[in-house]
Amino acid sequence: MCGIVGYLGHRQAYEILIQGLHRLEYRGYDSAGVALINDDCNLNVYKTRGKVSNLEQSADGKDTNGTVGIAHTRWATHGEPNDVNAHPQLSQSRSIALVHNGTIENYSVLKKALIQHGYSFESDTDTEVLVQLIEFIKITNGCSTLDAVTEALHQVEGAYAIAVIEDGDPDTLIVARKSSPLVIGVGDGETFIASDATPIVGFTDKVVYLQDDEIAVIRRGKPLQVLSLKDNKPSKINIQTLKLSLAQLEKGGYDTFMLKEIFEQPATLRDCLRGRIVDDCNRVVLSGVEINKDKFLNARRIVLVACGTSWHAALIGKRLIQEMCGIPVEVEYASEFRYSNPCLTKDDIVISISQSGETADTLAAIQLAREKGAFVYGICNVVGASIPRNTDSGTYIHVGPEIGVASTKAFTGQVTVLVLLALCVGQLRGTILPQTVHDVAKALTELPETIEKTLRLDSKIQELSRIFTYAHNFLYLGRGYNYPTALEGALKLKEISYIHAEGYPAAEMKHGPIALIDHEMPSVIIAPSDSLYDKIISNVQQVKARGGSVIAIVSKGNRAMADIADYCLEIPEVPECLSPIVASIPLQLLAYHIAVNKGKNVDMPRNLAKSVTVE
Ligand code: AGP
Repeated sequence: MCGIVGYLGHRQAYEILIQGLHRLEYRGYDSAGVALINDDCNLNVYKTRGKVSNLEQSADGKDTNGTVGIAHTRWATHGEPNDVNAHPQLSQSRSIALVHNGTIENYSVLKKALIQHGYSFESDTDTEVLVQLIEFIKITNGCSTLDAVTEALHQVEGAYAIAVIEDGDPDTLIVARKSSPLVIGVGDGETFIASDATPIVGFTDKVVYLQDDEIAVIRRGKPLQVLSLKDNKPSKINIQTLKLSLAQLEKGGYDTFMLKEIFEQPATLRDCLRGRIVDDCNRVVLSGVEINKDKFLNARRIVLVACGTSWHAALIGKRLIQEMCGIPVEVEYASEFRYSNPCLTKDDIVISISQSGETADTLAAIQLAREKGAFVYGICNVVGASIPRNTDSGTYIHVGPEIGVASTKAFTGQVTVLVLLALCVGQLRGTILPQTVHDVAKALTELPETIEKTLRLDSKIQELSRIFTYAHNFLYLGRGYNYPTALEGALKLKEISYIHAEGYPAAEMKHGPIALIDHEMPSVIIAPSDSLYDKIISNVQQVKARGGSVIAIVSKGNRAMADIADYCLEIPEVPECLSPIVASIPLQLLAYHIAVNKGKNVDMPRNLAKSVTVE
C-alpha cells in the first residue's frame, strides 16, 4: 500500500505534499515523511511514526521551503512502523531521497551484496536497499542518476511505484512504476505525481497514468518525458481528463468519511444505475456486455475473483448469474486463484471485482486469467485504475471515491452492478423471463428511495449499539442471498470495532458454532421475507433456546419474528435478489455505531489500509 505524492513547479511544495498525504492517508498511516530541496539546493527530510498530523507537528518551525519535493504515507511491509523505517529513505551519502509503494522481493540478496561493498543500513525496509543500490550504481558506473535509477530497477524484483529527488538538483523529479499505481498531473509549469488522482484534484485535470515498466522524468521548464524501462525508448504520452471534483473528496458535514459514505448510498446507487435501465424497465444495458455479446452467449463458465468485501459481493454475484443466466459460476479468493494453476479456456469468463482497482492479488489473478486465454471482465469503482486497464472489458460502479477504509457504498454498488450484469446477460441468453427483468429493474430504479427509507433506522440502531458495545464476540447468520450479507456484516464489525465476529450460513450453525452460543454471544440474523424465511425462523429458535440474544433484520410488517427475537430492525421489502443491498445498510450502521461508542477511528482502523497493493 502506501501513498506517494510529489511536486515540481513554481509553488511551495510542502503544503501541496501535506494536503496530498492527507488525501492518500486511507492507503496507510503507519508513518509519514517528506523530502524537499530548499532554495539553497539543500535536501531536507522530515519523517515520523504515525499519521500525517504527527509529521506536520514535527516539521513545524523547520525549513520546509522548496518548490520540489516528495512525500509518503506508509503501510509497513518490511520493518516495524517507526521513525527510521518511515519514508523517504536515503542513500549512503544522504543525497538521494526515495519514496516507495510496493515490495522489493529480492531485497535481502541485494542488501548482502551492498554490505559487502561497505554499505551500512539504518532501517529494516526493503526500500532503503533500492535507494542505496541507486547510489552504488551511480558511483560505480559514473552515470547519471536517471541511468542509475533505470539500472537499479532492472536489478530489483517485485512491485514498485517510486519517486526520487536528489540533493543539489531542485529541477528534477524521477518516477517509475511496476505493478503499483502512479498518476502524473500535468499543470501549467508544474507537475504533480501521486498514487491516485486525489492529491491532484483542484490543481489540474490533465493526467497521465504511468504504465508498468515506465520511468518518467520531470524537469523544470521542460516537457514531461516518459521512457520504457525495457528498452529506454520514449513512450507515447496519453494525457487524459480527470473527472473528480473536490467536493467528492471532502466529508460534507459528516463526522467521518464512513458515515458520509453510508448516507451517500441513495445518491451513489442513482449514479450507478444511470442510463442502464431503459424501455420502461423492460431492458438493461451494460455496454461492456453488449459489445462482447458473443463471449457471454458462448460462456462455458464464469469465475469471479476478488478479495475482502468485494469477494462477498462475488458470492452474491454467483447466485445472481446462476439463477438468471444459467451459467455455472465459481467464486475464488484472488490470492488463492493466482497460485492455483486454474484450468481456463477461451470460453471461460473471469470477472474481477474491486473497489480500488489496485488490489495486487486481484490484479495478478486477472493477468494470469488473460495469459491462460480467458476473457477478463472487470467490475471496478476507481476510473482508470490498474485493474480496468488490464481487462478486456468491464463496468464501472460509479459510486465516487470511497475514502473510509471499511467498504460500504462500494459494496452496494458492486452488488447493484452484478444484478444489472445478470439481468443483461440473462436477456441476451434468453434465460430470464421478461416479467422478471421488468420487476427487478423496476425495483432497482426505486432502490435509491428504498435505501433512503432504510437509513431512517439510524437512530434506532445507534440506541441498540449501546447495548452491544462491550460484547466480545458476535455471530452473523443469513441464508441464500443473505449468507454473504452475514459475512459482510461480520467483516464490517471486525475491521472497525475490533470485536471478533463470524458470518455463517444460518443452517450450518447447528454443525458446530452453536456450541458458542450463550447469553454473552449476540447473533445478528438477516431474515427478510424471502424463500428461506421459514427455515431461518427455526435457526433463530435454536439460538434463543440456548440463551443467546438475537437482533433480527426483517422485512417491514413482519410480526412473527418480533415474538422470538430480542430486537427487530425492519427494512423495506424488495425482490429477493436485491435484499443484500438493503439488508447491508443496518449492518453498516450497527458496526459504525459500536466502533464509535468504543472510541475507535472508523476511517482508519488499525493495521489496515484502503487498497492492498502488496501480496
Ligand atoms: C473492506 O471493508 C475491506 N477493507 C477490504 O476487505 C477490501 O474490500 C479488500 O481489500 C478488497 O479491496 P478492493 O475492492 O479495492 O479490491
